[in-house]
Amino acid sequence: MCHNNSVSQQLSHDTPLQKGVWNHVARALKPQQHAHKVQQSLQLSISMDAAKGTVNGNHDPEAGTAEPGTRRRRGSMYLEEETNKSGVISCIFSLKEEVGALAKALRLFEDNGINLTHIESRPSRMNGEEYEFFISVESSCSQALDDVIDGLRKEISGHVHGLSRNKQKDTVPWFPNDIQDLDRFANQILSYGSELDADHPGFTDQVYRARRKEFADIAYNYRHGQPIPRVEYTEAEKETWGIVFKELKTLYPTHACREHNRVFPLLERYCGYRQDNIPQLEDVSRFLQSCTGFRLRPVAGLLSSRDFLAGLAFRVFHSTQYIRHGSKPTYTPEPDVCHELLGHVPLLADPSFAQFSQEIGLASLGAPDEFIEKLATVYWFTVEYGLCKQGSEIKAYGAGLLSSFGELQYSLTDEPNMLPFDPEKTSLQKYPITEYQPVYFVAESFEDAKEKVRKFAGTIPRPFSVRYNPYTQSIEVLNNTQQLRNLADCINCEVGKLCEALQKLE
Ligand SMILES: [Fe+2]
Repeated sequence: MCHNNSVSQQLSHDTPLQKGVWNHVARALKPQQHAHKVQQSLQLSISMDAAKGTVNGNHDPEAGTAEPGTRRRRGSMYLEEETNKSGVISCIFSLKEEVGALAKALRLFEDNGINLTHIESRPSRMNGEEYEFFISVESSCSQALDDVIDGLRKEISGHVHGLSRNKQKDTVPWFPNDIQDLDRFANQILSYGSELDADHPGFTDQVYRARRKEFADIAYNYRHGQPIPRVEYTEAEKETWGIVFKELKTLYPTHACREHNRVFPLLERYCGYRQDNIPQLEDVSRFLQSCTGFRLRPVAGLLSSRDFLAGLAFRVFHSTQYIRHGSKPTYTPEPDVCHELLGHVPLLADPSFAQFSQEIGLASLGAPDEFIEKLATVYWFTVEYGLCKQGSEIKAYGAGLLSSFGELQYSLTDEPNMLPFDPEKTSLQKYPITEYQPVYFVAESFEDAKEKVRKFAGTIPRPFSVRYNPYTQSIEVLNNTQQLRNLADCINCEVGKLCEALQKLE
């Protein structure tokens, strides 16, 4: 589902704490005196590990042993450090489960003269081989705590969760870690799909509104891993689709990029793309997964830019399933199934474009609001309204163009202004959302655009890099030496395969 520049309407990501079990270890303890007790607690945690599947999620650490007001977790990954009225700073770190690991960590606190006022442990939800420790220190230790955090990361490969002394300035916004976390977005839509504006062609049509609610309910109740429910489209809906399909298909050979034209016949062959048939999202999603690993997910309404972009990081594309109002088949004020299936889907089946889309998504994770706005603008001028060079010609690859008969023609005339794609400049370009674009950005190639977005992402002020792990379908936050070591091992393995293949070719 494409989205307008709705950053200003973004939802607060003060999502409820992903609850876990904390073992109260000690209060007001000096680390060297109580490492033993903590180790005992660690043993207790280990023995509880088998039961954690049932106990995690049922215990609220806020209500348990913690000092009220000392912390508030904003999501599954990042912890907001807070200083309470009595001047206590709290944070979380994770350690691999091995003999002496905690003792080493506590020695760092001791060496830096930090007195722990509180410590708790629990098995990590993120990594089965790790334990998480929640600690509190006096706010006067703020400076020394920085050194300890450095030490945890560099010396013992501890995983220190995002910290913030200045909530406004430094807080890392919540982002999904696991593909199943995308289920949370269903509750965070900015408007439900059945709510129509007064100028919507279907505003006074009660039958259409009821139908839209059916689609919205399907998406609202959808959860990751389920097949996308099939929809029996009405004859009137199929007629609307047929008009759009027929018109656009005549333009694709001359106006669409070669990637679109290469995939389109496959969609006709395998996914039921026909003038008299609206393809099912589930069939299309399966096709995409076999091509690039991208999958579709039905969405009940408008998502915030942050949420929508986060989906791309997991190669998940949030797609509408309803169709525009039949009274105006060539016009829609919002994305609909014609826009998604004819505009977005063909490109998502292209490996290079899929990678490019995911790069935008990865760049958005944990980014400050102002960068989300910039990335949403980059998305607008590429995935939605992008043009690219192909040989001596310029072709369309943006879904907003490939699903609009009028604008697809207009975009390749001399009328609009064409500028080279440059994320730094593109991200600042203003644009209208209800009329043809006066400015388009032209990419040299998807590969070139991907590299530029990657460099642009490097300018985003966030204290870590991220990487998608397709095996676990989760985001790896690269902020400690162990993570970097794991990544180096993966790269080493791949380079080894490359060398072997090259030798065989020779
Ligand atoms: Fe779109």
